[in-house]
Amino acid sequence: MSNDGVNSGRRRFLTAATSVVGGAGVVGVAVPFVGSWNPSAKAKAAGAPVKADVSKIAPGQMVVVEWRGKPVYILRRTPEQVEELSSLNSYLKDPSSEVSEQPEYIEGDGRAIKPEYLVLVGLCTHLGCAPKHRPEVGTPDLGGDSWLGGFFCPCHGSRFDLAGRVYKGVPASANLIVPPYSFESDKVIVIGVDQGAA
Ligand code: FES
Repeated sequence: MSNDGVNSGRRRFLTAATSVVGGAGVVGVAVPFVGSWNPSAKAKAAGAPVKADVSKIAPGQMVVVEWRGKPVYILRRTPEQVEELSSLNSYLKDPSSEVSEQPEYIEGDGRAIKPEYLVLVGLCTHLGCAPKHRPEVGTPDLGGDSWLGGFFCPCHGSRFDLAGRVYKGVPASANLIVPPYSFESDKVIVIGVDQGAA
């Protein structure tokens, strides 16, 4: 990917992230942060870990936090959504996920430490736009019967399932990236620290 591609992708993200955060506020879903948890802006830019309290995310809802200047999506999936993931494997380019798309300790179709919580870098693996969370099921223009909710990239139409796995027949060739993360407690996720590294 050229520098131009990266930079233009970041610009698009900055625009899109503003609207995503604004949308979350409208429906009253926002991750509450305790001020002392969060590193300074300077430390964040340098890559400091970011903590998120996931206990207030309702099933089926997604919030966005910023880590290393990138949007990180945290989606709380319902048990039904997790259970249905394996039924989509034949529609996907890389259902088992290459190691380059996720840390080694992430396994299974759900691509998560705890199946309930999906954590993804919210940048399309095609050219870096911010995919939109589209939870509705069976939407005709998103794949009909093969669409059980997921992420849709508005820039060139790439589609990803509710584990961030890319569908066949779209421009993106890799699954959305799972960043390094860990659970500090049942309620708190630390993005930027590998599970088992603390
Ligand atoms: S940037 Fe997402 S499909 Fe091109």
